Amino acid sequence: MLVTPVTKLLNIRVPIVQGGMQWVGVPSLAAAVSNAGGLGILTALTQPSPEALREAIRETRRKTDKPFGVNITLLPTINPPDYEGYIRAAVAEGVRIFETAGNNPKKIIAYLKGEGCTIIHKCTNIRHAKSAERLGVDILSIDGFECAGHPGEDDMPGLVLLARAAQEVKLPYLASGGVADSRGFVAALALGASGINMGTRFMCTVESPIHVKIKEKIVESTEQDTIHIFRTMRNTARVFKNKVSEEVVAIERRPGSKFEDVRELVSGVRGREVYVRGDPDYGIWSLGISAGLIRDIPTCEELVGRLEREAEEMLNGGITRKLSAKL
Ligand SMILES: Cc1cc2nc3c(=O)[nH]c(=O)nc-3n(C[C@H](O)[C@H](O)[C@H](O)COP(=O)(O)O)c2cc1C
Repeated sequence: MLVTPVTKLLNIRVPIVQGGMQWVGVPSLAAAVSNAGGLGILTALTQPSPEALREAIRETRRKTDKPFGVNITLLPTINPPDYEGYIRAAVAEGVRIFETAGNNPKKIIAYLKGEGCTIIHKCTNIRHAKSAERLGVDILSIDGFECAGHPGEDDMPGLVLLARAAQEVKLPYLASGGVADSRGFVAALALGASGINMGTRFMCTVESPIHVKIKEKIVESTEQDTIHIFRTMRNTARVFKNKVSEEVVAIERRPGSKFEDVRELVSGVRGREVYVRGDPDYGIWSLGISAGLIRDIPTCEELVGRLEREAEEMLNGGITRKLSAKL
């Protein structure tokens, strides 16, 4: 019943994708999502080098014989990482599904298409979706304002953005941002999506590599517990609200403040330590408002199975039955 253009293009059972996640998208999680019937994605830049990414791909393949992908996030940075090295390493290891995110993906998309890859490209507005469509990507992942990480600068929530995509976009698209349960899953399908992409929900699973105290913190959190940093730099990111992120916002709002003033507070290494130490207040870490929906720490198999079962029930008359029961 849940066969869609996305399940066909990616050769997966359920149209559920685990989005790239810095420090979180490692072999254990990606393989678990793929084994559960969805698409797991390794995050290239979580690996210290292209060679380490090759080893992570081999490790994932030892853990699953199902398809999985690699995320390439193009960061707005002065000293860019060796993107070409990471991409060539993944292609050489036989990866044929890529999730691309960030600015100016033109060159990368052209190279990957030349290698026969299937590309999922993340966008946060219709203009970028249409330009990615012209560049020849295969699937769009449309991130609403609810999402963890970078929602863009248009502040467009998924309810309108996805319905606009249904009007404007020809390619199949995933609904990303704010989806953590079967209600969101079915709503996404009703809004024209051919599947969903989840980050925050997959962070809080047994196979996610982060410290259990952070998973417990997510379970405790509500939809009020995130904050936007880097708004003033037009590089907005939705992260967990703690003393560090609140301090970043306070500093960046000061007239004349520069990135240098927050560099130490937002350092990636410090963010990574959050997951290692299990201390949610140690640094900056991405979190979506879907945290408010999360109540447990299931295995990926339990989670994907639950979403699939409940969505099928709702699509099989469950919603109508519920509505008439209220009469
Ligand atoms: C901890 C974490 C790290 C993330 N890191 C990245 C990243 O490196 N690259 C990227 O494209 N998206 C990243 N994202 C965004 C996710 O891929 C996905 O688009 C987003 O989480 C969807 O919103 P949701 O969290 O409401 O499901 C990250 C999300 C989380 C929760």
